[in-house]
Amino acid sequence: MRHLIDPLDFSQQEIASLLDLADRICADPAAYQDVAAHKKLATLFYEPSTRTRLSFEAAMLNLGGHVLGFPSENVSSASKGESVADTIRVVSCYADIVAMRHPKEGAPLRASRYSRIPVINAGDGGHQHPTQTMTDLMTIRRRKGRLNDLTIGLCGDLKFGRTVHSLIKTMARCENIRFVLISPEELRVPDYIITDVLEANHIPYKETRSLEESMPELDILYMTRVQKERFFNEEDYVRLKNSYILTKEKMALAKPDMAVLHPLPRVNEITLEVDDDPRAAYFEQVQNAVYVRMALIMTLLGLKDPKAEKEGN
Ligand code: CP
Repeated sequence: MRHLIDPLDFSQQEIASLLDLADRICADPAAYQDVAAHKKLATLFYEPSTRTRLSFEAAMLNLGGHVLGFPSENVSSASKGESVADTIRVVSCYADIVAMRHPKEGAPLRASRYSRIPVINAGDGGHQHPTQTMTDLMTIRRRKGRLNDLTIGLCGDLKFGRTVHSLIKTMARCENIRFVLISPEELRVPDYIITDVLEANHIPYKETRSLEESMPELDILYMTRVQKERFFNEEDYVRLKNSYILTKEKMALAKPDMAVLHPLPRVNEITLEVDDDPRAAYFEQVQNAVYVRMALIMTLLGLKDPKAEKEGN
């Protein structure tokens, strides 16, 4: 039984194969329209979502499969106190694969231990968001033509931003990567990422407060929202929420071929005028999310790639 809980559950070779499949799907989506016929995806979302949930649902529908889930996070029996373990035992009877988002770190891992079907972590608290990372990697690879030899700036809420943690963990395995970590002191990357991922693997990085000073050296700028829902008090959130705002003026300091990514939703971190800059790649991420999640569903369910059979991939 294969799950995707942590981004390192897939080897680099497996991630490359997943991205190759996503590229093939993107080139000819119609060829994949019956691949998952009669298969069912359950979406167990105990936290709000627009992109992750809808792109998983679109992905399964695009593959000819079906989707089941709750209309909101408050209407399942979890609100009556049912455990994650019991919930996944039940869902295993109804679906072939499940995507789970949960406010508690480790909930999808716990679910996977009781599940008879593949479990996909669709975001657990401030911990990990591996499928967003696959989407980010597809976007970077299509923009830059490579996942190696890059200076990657991550800016904003690096403490609670689960997409940041998963991206650093994954890209730390690529060749010749350097990270520039741009955040207020209170929102620094957690120590375990610094020690267990960056320092343990001798990955060059620097921590800085200045986005402006960092702009000229970046190949990728990954902006993030300050995660209001993870703060203990409103006062701290209000003080930190506008720490970094990417503007046209700041974009003028960047390389002409830099790419700006953001997992979205944005609140105020990127001004609307930046959307017209050809370096803005965040709505490409949104589109790539569907292809990546189609590829992931196929991979975890062991479904055959019709294009691979024809083209010998
Ligand atoms: N990127 C992302 O996880 O967005 P949603 O919270 O809308 O799913």
